Amino acid sequence: RKGKEAPEQRRPAVPGVKPKFKTVANQRSGPQSTPAAKGGLARLSGKRGSILSRLEDRLSGGRFRWLNEQLYTTSGSSALSMMNRDPKLMSEYHAGFAAQTASWPQRPLDLAAAWLRKHSRAWTVADIGCGEAELARLAPQKNVHSFDLLATAPGVVACDMTALPLADASVDAAVFCLSLMGTDYGRAVEEAVRAVVPGGYVWIAEVASRFASEDKDSRKGLLGAFLAACTARGLVLEHQDLTNTHFVVLVLKKAQQNAGGKAKRSPWPSLRPCLYRKR
Ligand SMILES: C[S@@+](CC[C@H](N)C(=O)[O-])C[C@H]1O[C@@H](n2cnc3c(N)ncnc32)[C@H](O)[C@@H]1O
Repeated sequence: RKGKEAPEQRRPAVPGVKPKFKTVANQRSGPQSTPAAKGGLARLSGKRGSILSRLEDRLSGGRFRWLNEQLYTTSGSSALSMMNRDPKLMSEYHAGFAAQTASWPQRPLDLAAAWLRKHSRAWTVADIGCGEAELARLAPQKNVHSFDLLATAPGVVACDMTALPLADASVDAAVFCLSLMGTDYGRAVEEAVRAVVPGGYVWIAEVASRFASEDKDSRKGLLGAFLAACTARGLVLEHQDLTNTHFVVLVLKKAQQNAGGKAKRSPWPSLRPCLYRKR
């Protein structure tokens, strides 16, 4: 950045010599320092400012896409180590995620909050992969425990969701809003099942393309395999919403009885990573 700015600023205004082109020095000191020239200067620095800010946007967009890819292609514990090594990555990720999803017609987080509003205010809720804990502010329940890899907002408990610091049967609902990112995401769902009371809920929103498969029949494709894995761990599908263009919503209820030994027969399918395109 300095290299580009320096030549213009060093060029002196020579009296009596008409400059071939307007320099910053000439515009500042000479008779051209009229309101019109000042306007030109403002436009020039405005233009340079906007080029620089576009370059910065590109760089941070690139860093966000790289980070996002890491989170989708490594395990929870590797993601936790990566964030602990360089904690500023976490805030960069949150800012990039907000920018990428700003144009979505609907935010899944608002749907999670709307769903929680229909349930008891006395519920204890776990928001797993909470980002900056916005759900705790939107939900009517006072007891919302927010978990993410690093704590970048008040109230967030830093952890890897595959090892949740929650006692067995201690929450009424667990929410995963676009957060089943790691390659071992299934372990995180199992943790949620452990932490939810029998008859409690696991609410999931995931990017629709993660379930995209050759087989258009959702019972046979990746979504079907994912639901079968949930069922084998004692969750019963109560509601699914596949109408949204960007994400699917699944509301699963924990059965009163555990599912026995079915889990081995229904392994968690590898879901497609959600890689954002260059904008
Ligand atoms: C796409 S963001 C969504 C944030 C928030 N739920 C929302 O909807 O705005 C997913 C979040 O899950 C977190 N996450 C991913 N893997 C995790 C893990 N293994 N343990 C804890 N948090 C994780 C990420 O750090 C990120 O903040």
